[in-house]
Amino acid sequence: MTPTVPPFPAARLRRMRKSPALRAMMRENTLTVDDLIWPVFVMAGQDDETPVASMPGVVRRTVDRVAKAAKEAQDLGIPAICIFPYTGMESRTEDCAEAWSPDNLTNQAIRAIKDVAPEIAVMTDIALDPYNINGHDGFVEDGIIVNDRTVEALVKMALAQAEAGADILGPSDMMDGRIGAIRTALEADGHRDVTILSYTAKYASAFYGPFRDAVGAASALKGDKNTYQMNPGNSDEALRLVQRDLNEGADMVMVKPGMPYLDICRRVKDQFGVPTFAYQVSGEYAMIQAAVANGWLDGDKVMMEALLGFKRAGCDGVLTYFAPAAARLMQE
Ligand code: PBG
Repeated sequence: MTPTVPPFPAARLRRMRKSPALRAMMRENTLTVDDLIWPVFVMAGQDDETPVASMPGVVRRTVDRVAKAAKEAQDLGIPAICIFPYTGMESRTEDCAEAWSPDNLTNQAIRAIKDVAPEIAVMTDIALDPYNINGHDGFVEDGIIVNDRTVEALVKMALAQAEAGADILGPSDMMDGRIGAIRTALEADGHRDVTILSYTAKYASAFYGPFRDAVGAASALKGDKNTYQMNPGNSDEALRLVQRDLNEGADMVMVKPGMPYLDICRRVKDQFGVPTFAYQVSGEYAMIQAAVANGWLDGDKVMMEALLGFKRAGCDGVLTYFAPAAARLMQE
């Protein structure tokens, strides 16, 4: 659509910005609490939490505290919460068996949340990195991150999470064929209504740094993730990945990181018209919080402006560490 603008003074576009009422009428995009998915970090222990140094305002919580936080999020109207485990070093092994243990931290947290906040949708992360001795999302054999054996493990992980009661599975590993394999296994096991939000266009990004601190993967990671996560220079490839994941049975797709990749969100939404989400990742959160702590930016305003940007780019929602703060602000 080419916008038609008659010549001045027939068109004075400032007429439409003249008052709050007119600006409200002309507003094209709106952020609501329905757009928020809240990522939380879970750790072992009882009634405790520890701050994540590189993410001011974010903490790791024990399972009971995660359940409490989920109840608060539900009361704020946040539709979904996403669980990431901080796994103790003793549970990180070469075979990653903790990843599909029915009693691992994620699966404990899913059940605990379902007990106290049954209405909030519980999302998970599917990847081996929190359980892997070398910090990679897949098995490493002779220095190579192997695809097909990793997919078999991801399927076991997915089934354990579905069994624990997860509503939304989030494969974040970027192996080929994992969506199809997980979907087939879910159908075979009677988990027909479990949805998959695929981390479809996940870039090999330096913006994940603080997250790797939060889950204790920073020091474990040997090498980089460039053989499975996307090259930041690519855009057409994202569309091929979306097509592939939809064909394999993904219900929703994700672009990650968020702010530096809003062009990808827009292309995906325009081309496919499917539920499209973005992940405003740890480094984006850290950047904003660091500037706010210095008094250089107005925290509430930049938070809301950044989140609105995702809606304007075509996203149906955004995973954000700001979810409770944004929800509270919108409630006021
Ligand atoms: C790991 C995973 C990562 C994030 C979500 N899942 C990090 C990575 O791929 O190294 C990043 C989230 C964030 O930075 O907030 N599978």
